[in-house]
Amino acid sequence: MSTSQPVSLFFSIFLVLLSTSHGFNITEILQPIPYFGIFNSRLSGTGLAEEINDMISVTVLVVADDKLRSFNYLAENDVKEILSFHVVYGYYDLMRLKALTTRTTLPTVYQGSTLTVNYDGNGTVTFRAADSGPEMDVKLLGNVHAQPHSISVLQIASTIRLGGPPSALTQ
Ligand SMILES: *[C@@H]1O[C@H](CO)[C@@H](O)[C@H](O)[C@H]1NC(C)=O
Ligand SMILES: *[C@@H]1O[C@H](CO)[C@@H](O)[C@H](O)[C@H]1NC(C)=O
Repeated sequence: MSTSQPVSLFFSIFLVLLSTSHGFNITEILQPIPYFGIFNSRLSGTGLAEEINDMISVTVLVVADDKLRSFNYLAENDVKEILSFHVVYGYYDLMRLKALTTRTTLPTVYQGSTLTVNYDGNGTVTFRAADSGPEMDVKLLGNVHAQPHSISVLQIASTIRLGGPPSALTQ
């Protein structure tokens, strides 16, 4: 019976890890970082923060406030569309992105629209709408928060333009 104790200890540690691994709150993750204030408040205002918190594994591409001035002139629903294009199903952290050997498609919360991500092999990761060209590439700046298998929050240089036919949003 000498093995039962370590085993049950291991098992209870495993349970603790399991029960906390899905626990995250995007609002609280971004709260301490002042230059994500607009992104954070619009995530909450549009209801996207709750959607993100309900996801099992998610990657959020965040943009600093000084690149979000256009949000002042956009309707709430347009802001929601743009933000939901920056919420990707699945967990992609720096290590995973820098291991990519081909351009990879990422499904987003925005009506099934997809992004593509590419690693150039030299340290630069870029994102763009699946149906747009290289002139639309937006660079990854770095990691904000990583909770393996649950949530990855990455800062990118600016918002990614939605693909598809031109609309008021993309002009
Ligand atoms: C996330 O954090 C915010 C701010 O603290 C809070 O208002 C909200 O209720 C939290 N959401 C969840 C799902 O815990
Ligand atoms: C990567 O860096 C090397 C050496 O600086 C350079 O020759 C090469 O063109 C770069 N490749 C890309 C895809 O930028």
